Amino acid sequence: MSQQKRASFGGKLSAILVAAGSAIGLGSIWRFPYMAGEHGGAAFMLVYLLCVFVVGIPVMLGEFAVGRQTKMNAVGGYRSLAKNWRWLGYCGVIGAMFISGYYYIVAGWSLEYFFSSLTGSLYSSTESFTTQFATFQASWREVLYTFLFILLTHLIIIRGVEKGIEKASKVMMPALFVILVIMAIRVAFMPGAEGGYEFFLRPNFAEAFSAKTIFTAIGQAFFSLSVGMGCMVTYASYFKEDNNLTGTSLSVALLTLLVAVLAGLVIFPAVFSAGLEPSEGASLIFVTLPEIFKDMPMAGVWSSVFFILLIMASLTSTISFHEVLTAYFLEEYNLSRKAATRITSALSLALCLLSLLWVFDIKVLDIQDTSFFDIFDYTTANILMPIGGLFTCLFVTWKMKPSFLRDQMTNHGKLRGRLFPLLWFTLRYITPLLIIYIFVKNLGII
Ligand code: PHE
Repeated sequence: MSQQKRASFGGKLSAILVAAGSAIGLGSIWRFPYMAGEHGGAAFMLVYLLCVFVVGIPVMLGEFAVGRQTKMNAVGGYRSLAKNWRWLGYCGVIGAMFISGYYYIVAGWSLEYFFSSLTGSLYSSTESFTTQFATFQASWREVLYTFLFILLTHLIIIRGVEKGIEKASKVMMPALFVILVIMAIRVAFMPGAEGGYEFFLRPNFAEAFSAKTIFTAIGQAFFSLSVGMGCMVTYASYFKEDNNLTGTSLSVALLTLLVAVLAGLVIFPAVFSAGLEPSEGASLIFVTLPEIFKDMPMAGVWSSVFFILLIMASLTSTISFHEVLTAYFLEEYNLSRKAATRITSALSLALCLLSLLWVFDIKVLDIQDTSFFDIFDYTTANILMPIGGLFTCLFVTWKMKPSFLRDQMTNHGKLRGRLFPLLWFTLRYITPLLIIYIFVKNLGII
């Protein structure tokens, strides 16, 4: 185990900002609209909202408690509380590897869109945005941008927790809200936007309660809040003792929800106005957002500002799962920060190359056109993170004594912790039962 003095984040606001920085990213802006578009729009949003409260926030608090109590990486944290639960930390490490295998690629797409907005080529081309996206997917630039994004993350991580992560989050988050609000107002005036509001805001209850919708929404809740894979354990290990964990988790969840809802209010009216399909899939925001900008004065400028903010939001998320792996290598193998960072970055690049085989026209897996990209995306959010979350609930409320969570929620009696009974009950019964039920139901067993 490393004996160096452990770093910590500054004040309370810093803790919220860095955790929100991890949570808010492509999950809310890219993945949420694409999932909502494929799973019934408003019905999905309604269930997602519920999942954030019933599943996301409780699990996040559980992870915060483990991290701050132990002040260790995910594996070390679980192991130091209960030796035979260290595998739960390893699940997180594997989850972080799977996310690394595709997240950098999508973040790289934002780099491409930023540069093509800046040079104007995105808007001056005669090809449709859909064709431009498809052309880019087959080009070597996709590999280059993925590499660049890993490099960017690498350079921030290598500077360490205080200087790198904290500073980055503080600057990048607030600006993102502002531009999303401006865009939401702008799309409201586009012809045909009403269809988007109808799709995104009027739920079809029959659809909302289908097992598939709930399954996907739970996965999205885990993914967008960065819970179920030790990321919040790792971050909370840098929190200060006087940080109010309950308040932090609520603030992070509410900020993430706000960004996701804003993203929906931007994307769907634009989709309907441009006559596109909401179920377009992973390319959704990259083909619809340019539609919003293209008729605005100074399209390239607006578009560049948006994509640079998306890049920043993604960067605060890539930093967080990179840190899960870096902290693991650093502390478990007693490596220097530099070496641990290098190993993580090299590993991430290798996994991304596997997902990018389509660029080289290589098909290793030819299961109905499924790529490693799809497999990494599907398994992280829908399988690894919910399983990690399920066992986090069981660990915190069945393996540990109530005093463990109570002490962390009340800062050892300094706060009142009025929500403790509700949280305890939810984490012990409701969240695990819901996850198990939906898993079994979705597999068609009942
Ligand atoms: N929550 C991040 C996002 O929405 C993704 C993420 C998942 C980050 C898990 C860290 C850990 O973009």
